[in-house]
Amino acid sequence: MYEKEIEKRKSCRSYTNEPLQEEQIRKLKELIKRVNKESNLSIELITNDEGIFDDFKKNNRAFNNVKNYFALVGKKDDINLKEKCGYYGELLVLESTRLGLGTCFVGSIHDFKNIAIKINEDEDLIVLITVGHPQGKETFFAKIINFFTHTKNIKFSDLMIADMDAPLWFIKGVQNALLAPSSFNKHPIIFTYKMGEVRAKIKENSEYAPIDLGIAKLHFELGALNGKFILGNNGIYTIVDYLNL
Ligand SMILES: Cc1cc2nc3c(=O)[nH]c(=O)nc-3n(C[C@H](O)[C@H](O)[C@H](O)COP(=O)(O)O)c2cc1C
Repeated sequence: MYEKEIEKRKSCRSYTNEPLQEEQIRKLKELIKRVNKESNLSIELITNDEGIFDDFKKNNRAFNNVKNYFALVGKKDDINLKEKCGYYGELLVLESTRLGLGTCFVGSIHDFKNIAIKINEDEDLIVLITVGHPQGKETFFAKIINFFTHTKNIKFSDLMIADMDAPLWFIKGVQNALLAPSSFNKHPIIFTYKMGEVRAKIKENSEYAPIDLGIAKLHFELGALNGKFILGNNGIYTIVDYLNL
């Protein structure tokens, strides 16, 4: 699932003036409704927001013409809040990619003053994901970010520790995780396969690493296609026996 989109996706920071089409908005809102119900998050899609355009202009010059975005919000007391925002946010990224749109996670939003959503006392805004029609040409600052974040050449073997008999589905999961977005392209998650047990663990902690954990887990699941991780750092992967469901 989402095989082509995972191959194709890369962060997009410049957008055209064309508004999202009604059909695209409808499909994305439908998915948000399902996701919010399953996750207990309060994700919103905000479209045609001129305020955010100003925030980006003042605070983050790598982006150009941002008017639409997903706001990833959830309950402060949810211990897995960041991970869930990564997991379900990336699902929205892949669905947007399927609809022909560009996206980019944005963690550096501390100085943003104009986000057009109401956040309740007991909630936190974790991250934004910009979305829109890709302009094709990235800004000078975006090119600099890409240059500095893509020089490390991380290999898929850097993302795993595995016994010799690791099955193909595990390898496919890790290969998919290598194609995931991560903060500063650090890929701070490691997948382990030991005596048949699979886990996903943060190897380098940071403010954004739990978000990266959720994103990487989703990519792994979409590559392995036979199970699901439980929530949390070092969460175990449970194989779902679809034949006996
Ligand atoms: C949690 C998270 C936060 C991010 N925050 C920013 C950000 O504030 N500014 C930015 O330009 N890119 C941000 N990115 C995008 C990453 O830089 C990008 O995913 C990474 O360099 C890999 O490039 P790719 O997405 O094109 O594969 C963020 C990504 C993630 C997953």
